[in-house]
Amino acid sequence: MKRKKIVVGNWKMNMTMDQSNSLIKELKSISENDVEIKIAPSFTNLHNAVLLGQLSSSNGQYIEVVAQNIHSEERGAYTGEISAEMLKSIGVKSVIIGHSERRKYFNETDSILSKKVKTAIKYNIGVIFCVGEELSERENNNHFNVIKDQISIGLFDLDAYEINKVVIAYEPVWAIGTGKTANSNQIQEMHEFIRELVKDKFDHLRNKSTNDSAASESLRILYGGSVKPNNAKEIFSLQDVDGGLIGGASLNFADFSTIIKAANG
Ligand code: 13P
Repeated sequence: MKRKKIVVGNWKMNMTMDQSNSLIKELKSISENDVEIKIAPSFTNLHNAVLLGQLSSSNGQYIEVVAQNIHSEERGAYTGEISAEMLKSIGVKSVIIGHSERRKYFNETDSILSKKVKTAIKYNIGVIFCVGEELSERENNNHFNVIKDQISIGLFDLDAYEINKVVIAYEPVWAIGTGKTANSNQIQEMHEFIRELVKDKFDHLRNKSTNDSAASESLRILYGGSVKPNNAKEIFSLQDVDGGLIGGASLNFADFSTIIKAANG
């Protein structure tokens, strides 16, 4: 099955509103119709990004806007937090959940993340669910177990319909912002492992009478961690890699557009 590639720019805590607006305008000039282009700006830039991203352009390029976080509860006394319904009301289509920076600096546990996933999906917001091992976990040969736990706690109480709203991003923590990319073997074997986990859990649940494709076949699995213009093509050519989640290199047009083009090939 041919899966359309996705390239997501995770802007993290970068970009003023002016910077965000001008980069989105530049991205609108790209015409790579075989790639879904998504950006995840900060909360303050989300609404503008939605408006600019959906503006019609001569080449028909649409930029989908993703939030970087969401609260697990639907509403209430949670000062400073943002709900699924709020995101929905401004046209945000999906949200990153489980990024290692949220796990590490904001103590988000697998069970909190699982709740966030459920809440997002309840409001029909797509989920980009991040998983990844620490360097010490890989060195102890425990990386497959770590990813299995993150995925099973985070996603396995979804049903056969809900899992189709999820994109998984494999981001080895040791490769994020370090300039150290996982090598092709490490990436491909982990992506294949992730697809197998989803297959074992969900594929037998599909509704054969409506000809639904198996969840594991349509699942997009992105790689993240020091994806740059010079390594994107090789990474995106791997069999089970369906695009990338890009940090630093998504902050400027030259690098990000080169990476997007690499996904189109
Ligand atoms: P870098 O591309 O800067 O390594 O960041 C990856 C990342 O964390 C994307 O979510």
